[in-house]
Amino acid sequence: MIIAIDGPSGAGKSTLGKMLAKNLGLLYLDTGAMYRAVGLAVAKSGTNFENRDEVIEITRRAKIELVGEPENLQVFLNGVNVSNEIRTPEVGQAASIVSTISEVRKILVEHQRMLGEMAENGAVLDGRDIGTVVFPNADVKFFLTAKPEARAGRRYEEERTRGHVSTYEETLAEINLRDARDVSREDSPLSIAADAIVVDTSELDLTEVHELMLEKLKGKSEKVKK
Ligand code: DC
Repeated sequence: MIIAIDGPSGAGKSTLGKMLAKNLGLLYLDTGAMYRAVGLAVAKSGTNFENRDEVIEITRRAKIELVGEPENLQVFLNGVNVSNEIRTPEVGQAASIVSTISEVRKILVEHQRMLGEMAENGAVLDGRDIGTVVFPNADVKFFLTAKPEARAGRRYEEERTRGHVSTYEETLAEINLRDARDVSREDSPLSIAADAIVVDTSELDLTEVHELMLEKLKGKSEKVKK
């Protein structure tokens, strides 16, 4: 069983993806973390982000591993745990830039498909193009969204907890910039699959969204109570 969760940043995709994966005993794949790992690898190498060939080569060579249970997923880049390092706003922007390169997407999409197909009981994947490109035949597709102000508020709190110092206004500007890039890129822009279930999480708390998603999953997985 494959569950696709797409949507803009800060809509709650990863938290809800982890909750669903844990609840249903599925593998959880944070595809944004893979783009972030590539963004970090490029930044660390000192390569200019405009140098597409070099960025593609770095992506090809990068060994990206997602290890552990959904709620404690660890991200390794070339054997080094980069789980915290990839969560900074700078790496978020770097990820958004490298994700506009078609060859980079091709490499990561192949990796994502392989991991999803290999998962014994199936997987929950969260990203921007899961239901449209990576798994267009996913069993269930969710598109989570929320007003930019609500998403910025959540990201701001999240980053503060992690010890990053930025203001709410900076976080909102960062979200708007990333939204614009994700929606306007030529290859696999953020878009809603025709058969996706759209959920606006602006006014809902996590439990409410989780319940709503489980409700939609009824009949699709034996693990969801009838
Ligand atoms: O979900 P996130 O904020 O960790 O994603 C970081 C960036 O990676 C985001 O700006 C767009 C890109 N991304 C993508 O293009 N396709 C995906 N499936 C996941 C993320």
